[in-house]
Amino acid sequence: MKNIFDAPFLKKMCETASNMYRLGWDERNGGNISYLLDENEVAQYLDLNKVIRTIPTGFQANELIGRIFIVTGTGKYFKNIEKDPENNLGIIRIADDGATAELLWGYADGGRFTSELPAHLMSHISRLSVNPENRIIMHCHPDYTLAMTQVHEMDERALTRTLWKQMTESIVVFPDGLGVLPWMVCGTNEIGEATAEKMKKYRLVVWTLHGIYGAGRDMDETFGLIETVEKAAKQYMLTAHLPQVNTIEDSQLKELAEFFGVDYRKDYLNI
Ligand code: 13P
Ligand code: ZN
Repeated sequence: MKNIFDAPFLKKMCETASNMYRLGWDERNGGNISYLLDENEVAQYLDLNKVIRTIPTGFQANELIGRIFIVTGTGKYFKNIEKDPENNLGIIRIADDGATAELLWGYADGGRFTSELPAHLMSHISRLSVNPENRIIMHCHPDYTLAMTQVHEMDERALTRTLWKQMTESIVVFPDGLGVLPWMVCGTNEIGEATAEKMKKYRLVVWTLHGIYGAGRDMDETFGLIETVEKAAKQYMLTAHLPQVNTIEDSQLKELAEFFGVDYRKDYLNI
Protein backbone atom coordinates (compact mmCIF):
# COMPACT_ATOMS: atom_id res chain seq x y z
CA MET A 1 0.00 0.00 0.00
CA LYS A 2 1.37 3.43 -0.96
CA ASN A 3 1.66 6.29 1.54
CA ILE A 4 -1.51 8.43 1.49
CA PHE A 5 0.55 11.57 2.09
CA ASP A 6 2.15 11.01 -1.34
CA ALA A 7 -1.24 10.79 -3.11
CA PRO A 8 -1.49 13.45 -5.86
CA PHE A 9 -5.13 14.17 -4.94
CA LEU A 10 -4.17 14.87 -1.31
CA LYS A 11 -1.28 17.09 -2.38
CA LYS A 12 -3.56 19.00 -4.75
CA MET A 13 -6.13 19.62 -2.00
CA CYS A 14 -3.38 20.94 0.28
CA GLU A 15 -1.77 23.13 -2.37
CA THR A 16 -5.11 24.58 -3.46
CA ALA A 17 -6.27 25.32 0.09
CA SER A 18 -3.01 27.18 0.75
CA ASN A 19 -3.37 29.22 -2.43
CA MET A 20 -6.97 30.09 -1.56
CA TYR A 21 -5.95 31.13 1.94
CA ARG A 22 -3.06 33.21 0.63
CA LEU A 23 -5.41 35.07 -1.71
CA GLY A 24 -7.73 35.94 1.17
CA TRP A 25 -10.62 33.84 -0.11
CA ASP A 26 -10.85 31.73 3.06
CA GLU A 27 -10.67 33.59 6.33
CA ARG A 28 -10.84 31.46 9.49
CA ASN A 29 -12.84 28.33 8.50
CA GLY A 30 -14.45 30.08 5.53
CA GLY A 31 -14.79 27.98 2.39
CA ASN A 32 -14.82 24.29 1.61
CA ILE A 33 -13.74 21.92 -1.18
CA SER A 34 -14.93 18.50 -2.27
CA TYR A 35 -13.09 16.38 -4.85
CA LEU A 36 -14.62 13.25 -6.40
CA LEU A 37 -11.91 10.58 -6.45
CA ASP A 38 -11.28 7.55 -8.61
CA GLU A 39 -11.87 4.40 -6.54
CA ASN A 40 -8.97 2.52 -8.14
CA GLU A 41 -6.62 5.36 -7.36
CA VAL A 42 -7.75 5.57 -3.71
CA ALA A 43 -7.33 1.78 -3.40
CA GLN A 44 -3.61 2.23 -3.98
CA TYR A 45 -3.42 4.18 -0.70
CA LEU A 46 -6.25 2.93 1.54
CA ASP A 47 -7.93 -0.36 2.38
CA LEU A 48 -11.43 0.37 1.09
CA ASN A 49 -12.92 -2.31 3.37
CA LYS A 50 -11.78 -0.44 6.46
CA VAL A 51 -14.39 2.10 7.57
CA ILE A 52 -13.15 4.18 10.53
CA ARG A 53 -16.64 5.42 11.46
CA THR A 54 -19.90 6.40 9.80
CA ILE A 55 -21.43 9.90 9.81
CA PRO A 56 -25.02 10.64 8.75
CA THR A 57 -25.21 13.32 6.04
CA GLY A 58 -28.81 14.38 6.71
CA PHE A 59 -29.95 14.07 3.09
CA GLN A 60 -30.30 11.52 0.30
CA ALA A 61 -27.66 11.35 -2.41
CA ASN A 62 -28.57 8.06 -4.08
CA GLU A 63 -26.84 9.06 -7.33
CA LEU A 64 -23.53 9.10 -5.44
CA ILE A 65 -23.73 5.73 -3.66
CA GLY A 66 -20.26 4.18 -3.59
CA ARG A 67 -18.57 7.40 -4.72
CA ILE A 68 -15.51 8.54 -2.78
CA PHE A 69 -14.67 12.18 -2.03
CA ILE A 70 -11.94 14.04 -0.22
CA VAL A 71 -13.64 16.90 1.64
CA THR A 72 -12.51 19.73 3.90
CA GLY A 73 -13.61 19.47 7.54
CA THR A 74 -16.16 21.73 9.16
CA GLY A 75 -14.71 24.49 11.31
CA LYS A 76 -11.22 23.82 9.96
CA TYR A 77 -8.98 26.69 8.95
CA PHE A 78 -7.70 26.67 5.37
CA LYS A 79 -4.37 28.04 6.58
CA ASN A 80 -3.81 24.79 8.54
CA ILE A 81 -4.78 22.22 5.90
CA GLU A 82 -1.38 21.86 4.23
CA LYS A 83 0.58 21.35 7.45
CA ASP A 84 -2.00 19.00 9.03
CA PRO A 85 -4.14 17.31 6.38
CA GLU A 86 -5.18 14.34 8.53
CA ASN A 87 -7.10 16.52 11.00
CA ASN A 88 -8.42 19.03 8.49
CA LEU A 89 -9.47 16.75 5.62
CA GLY A 90 -11.41 13.51 5.35
CA ILE A 91 -11.95 10.85 2.69
CA ILE A 92 -15.55 9.65 2.70
CA ARG A 93 -17.58 7.15 0.69
CA ILE A 94 -21.35 7.48 0.31
CA ALA A 95 -22.82 4.30 1.81
CA ASP A 96 -25.45 2.05 0.25
CA ASP A 97 -28.28 3.92 1.99
CA GLY A 98 -27.31 7.14 0.16
CA ALA A 99 -27.51 9.12 3.42
CA THR A 100 -24.43 8.01 5.38
CA ALA A 101 -20.79 8.91 4.87
CA GLU A 102 -18.26 6.15 5.57
CA LEU A 103 -15.04 7.69 6.80
CA LEU A 104 -12.04 5.99 5.17
CA TRP A 105 -9.34 8.41 6.29
CA GLY A 106 -8.90 11.75 8.09
CA TYR A 107 -10.97 13.92 10.46
CA ALA A 108 -8.53 12.36 12.92
CA ASP A 109 -9.50 14.58 15.86
CA GLY A 110 -13.10 13.36 15.68
CA GLY A 111 -14.23 16.04 13.23
CA ARG A 112 -16.59 15.76 10.31
CA PHE A 113 -17.09 17.05 6.79
CA THR A 114 -18.03 20.64 5.96
CA SER A 115 -21.44 21.93 7.01
CA GLU A 116 -21.94 22.71 3.31
CA LEU A 117 -21.88 19.04 2.30
CA PRO A 118 -25.52 19.26 1.04
CA ALA A 119 -24.59 22.03 -1.43
CA HIS A 120 -21.45 20.14 -2.45
CA LEU A 121 -22.96 16.69 -3.02
CA MET A 122 -26.12 18.02 -4.64
CA SER A 123 -23.97 20.21 -6.91
CA HIS A 124 -21.80 17.20 -7.83
CA ILE A 125 -24.97 15.38 -8.87
CA SER A 126 -26.08 18.35 -11.02
CA ARG A 127 -22.71 18.90 -12.67
CA LEU A 128 -22.15 15.18 -13.35
CA SER A 129 -25.51 15.12 -15.15
CA VAL A 130 -24.24 17.92 -17.43
CA ASN A 131 -20.59 16.85 -17.61
CA PRO A 132 -19.61 13.33 -16.44
CA GLU A 133 -16.02 14.59 -16.10
CA ASN A 134 -16.82 17.05 -13.32
CA ARG A 135 -14.78 16.33 -10.19
CA ILE A 136 -14.56 19.48 -8.07
CA ILE A 137 -16.95 21.69 -6.13
CA MET A 138 -15.28 24.66 -4.45
CA HIS A 139 -16.74 27.33 -2.17
CA CYS A 140 -15.03 30.45 -0.81
CA HIS A 141 -15.48 34.09 0.21
CA PRO A 142 -13.33 36.20 -2.15
CA ASP A 143 -13.21 39.90 -1.19
CA TYR A 144 -14.24 41.71 -4.35
CA THR A 145 -16.88 39.21 -5.45
CA LEU A 146 -18.40 39.48 -2.00
CA ALA A 147 -18.18 43.29 -2.03
CA MET A 148 -19.87 43.37 -5.41
CA THR A 149 -22.87 41.49 -4.01
CA GLN A 150 -23.43 44.48 -1.71
CA VAL A 151 -23.48 47.12 -4.41
CA HIS A 152 -24.45 45.47 -7.71
CA GLU A 153 -27.87 44.37 -8.91
CA MET A 154 -28.02 40.62 -8.20
CA ASP A 155 -29.60 39.62 -11.47
CA GLU A 156 -27.80 36.84 -13.34
CA ARG A 157 -27.76 38.56 -16.70
CA ALA A 158 -26.81 41.98 -15.29
CA LEU A 159 -24.05 40.59 -13.05
CA THR A 160 -22.60 38.41 -15.80
CA ARG A 161 -22.60 41.31 -18.29
CA THR A 162 -20.82 43.60 -15.83
CA LEU A 163 -18.14 40.99 -15.15
CA TRP A 164 -17.68 40.19 -18.85
CA LYS A 165 -17.10 43.90 -19.51
CA GLN A 166 -14.43 44.34 -16.84
CA MET A 167 -11.68 42.60 -18.76
CA THR A 168 -11.15 40.85 -22.07
CA GLU A 169 -10.56 37.37 -20.66
CA SER A 170 -13.85 37.13 -18.75
CA ILE A 171 -16.20 35.93 -21.49
CA VAL A 172 -13.56 33.48 -22.71
CA VAL A 173 -13.13 31.90 -19.26
CA PHE A 174 -16.76 31.90 -18.10
CA PRO A 175 -18.91 32.17 -21.25
CA ASP A 176 -21.71 30.35 -19.41
CA GLY A 177 -21.91 33.23 -16.90
CA LEU A 178 -22.92 33.18 -13.26
CA GLY A 179 -25.96 31.91 -11.43
CA VAL A 180 -27.14 33.97 -8.48
CA LEU A 181 -28.86 33.03 -5.24
CA PRO A 182 -30.41 35.60 -2.92
CA TRP A 183 -29.23 35.70 0.68
CA MET A 184 -30.11 32.42 2.38
CA VAL A 185 -29.11 30.62 5.59
CA CYS A 186 -25.98 28.62 4.78
CA GLY A 187 -25.34 24.96 5.61
CA THR A 188 -28.95 23.93 4.98
CA ASN A 189 -30.41 21.40 2.58
CA GLU A 190 -32.47 24.30 1.12
CA ILE A 191 -29.42 26.28 0.01
CA GLY A 192 -27.91 23.00 -1.19
CA GLU A 193 -30.92 22.30 -3.38
CA ALA A 194 -31.02 25.87 -4.70
CA THR A 195 -27.29 25.80 -5.51
CA ALA A 196 -27.58 22.43 -7.24
CA GLU A 197 -30.49 23.69 -9.34
CA LYS A 198 -28.35 26.60 -10.56
CA MET A 199 -25.43 24.22 -11.18
CA LYS A 200 -27.45 22.53 -13.93
CA LYS A 201 -27.00 25.75 -15.92
CA TYR A 202 -23.88 27.37 -14.50
CA ARG A 203 -20.40 26.32 -13.29
CA LEU A 204 -20.38 29.39 -11.05
CA VAL A 205 -23.02 30.34 -8.49
CA VAL A 206 -22.82 33.48 -6.36
CA TRP A 207 -24.36 33.46 -2.91
CA THR A 208 -25.43 37.04 -2.18
CA LEU A 209 -23.58 38.50 0.84
CA HIS A 210 -21.75 35.22 1.37
CA GLY A 211 -19.44 34.03 -1.42
CA ILE A 212 -19.17 31.89 -4.51
CA TYR A 213 -19.36 28.27 -5.67
CA GLY A 214 -17.36 26.94 -8.59
CA ALA A 215 -17.37 23.57 -10.35
CA GLY A 216 -14.94 21.96 -12.75
CA ARG A 217 -13.16 18.91 -14.12
CA ASP A 218 -10.08 19.50 -12.01
CA MET A 219 -8.77 21.73 -9.27
CA ASP A 220 -6.98 24.16 -11.58
CA GLU A 221 -10.00 24.70 -13.82
CA THR A 222 -12.27 25.34 -10.84
CA PHE A 223 -9.75 27.58 -9.08
CA GLY A 224 -9.21 29.47 -12.34
CA LEU A 225 -12.92 30.14 -12.78
CA ILE A 226 -13.23 31.71 -9.35
CA GLU A 227 -9.91 33.52 -9.75
CA THR A 228 -11.10 35.12 -13.00
CA VAL A 229 -14.46 36.19 -11.55
CA GLU A 230 -12.66 37.65 -8.55
CA LYS A 231 -10.24 39.56 -10.78
CA ALA A 232 -13.13 41.01 -12.80
CA ALA A 233 -15.02 41.88 -9.61
CA LYS A 234 -11.88 43.66 -8.39
CA GLN A 235 -11.76 45.78 -11.55
CA TYR A 236 -15.40 46.68 -10.97
CA MET A 237 -14.91 47.63 -7.33
CA LEU A 238 -11.79 49.67 -8.21
CA THR A 239 -13.56 51.66 -10.91
CA ALA A 240 -17.35 51.64 -10.39
CA HIS A 241 -17.27 55.01 -8.61
CA LEU A 242 -15.13 56.64 -11.33
CA PRO A 243 -16.28 58.10 -14.67
CA GLN A 244 -15.99 55.28 -17.19
CA VAL A 245 -14.08 56.36 -20.29
CA ASN A 246 -13.52 53.01 -22.02
CA THR A 247 -15.65 49.89 -22.05
CA ILE A 248 -15.87 46.58 -23.90
CA GLU A 249 -18.88 46.82 -26.22
CA ASP A 250 -21.34 43.97 -26.73
CA SER A 251 -20.16 43.62 -30.34
CA GLN A 252 -16.61 43.13 -29.05
CA LEU A 253 -17.75 40.47 -26.55
CA LYS A 254 -19.35 38.65 -29.49
CA GLU A 255 -16.14 38.98 -31.53
CA LEU A 256 -14.11 37.56 -28.65
CA ALA A 257 -16.45 34.63 -28.01
CA GLU A 258 -16.51 33.75 -31.70
CA PHE A 259 -12.74 34.05 -32.13
CA PHE A 260 -12.11 31.74 -29.14
CA GLY A 261 -14.95 29.41 -30.14
CA VAL A 262 -16.70 29.43 -26.76
CA ASP A 263 -20.36 28.62 -26.26
CA TYR A 264 -21.56 31.82 -24.60
CA ARG A 265 -24.98 32.96 -23.43
CA LYS A 266 -26.02 34.89 -26.52
CA ASP A 267 -29.15 36.25 -24.85
CA TYR A 268 -26.91 38.05 -22.37
CA LEU A 269 -25.69 40.39 -25.12
CA ASN A 270 -27.72 43.29 -26.48
CA ILE A 271 -27.17 42.43 -30.12
P1 13P B 1 -17.46 24.88 7.19
O1 13P B 1 -16.38 25.24 8.20
O2 13P B 1 -18.53 24.03 7.80
O3 13P B 1 -16.86 24.28 5.95
O4 13P B 1 -18.20 26.23 6.78
C1 13P B 1 -17.51 27.29 6.19
C2 13P B 1 -18.35 28.09 5.26
O5 13P B 1 -17.81 28.77 4.42
C3 13P B 1 -19.82 28.05 5.39
O6 13P B 1 -20.43 28.57 4.25
ZN1 ZN C 1 -19.14 30.04 3.20
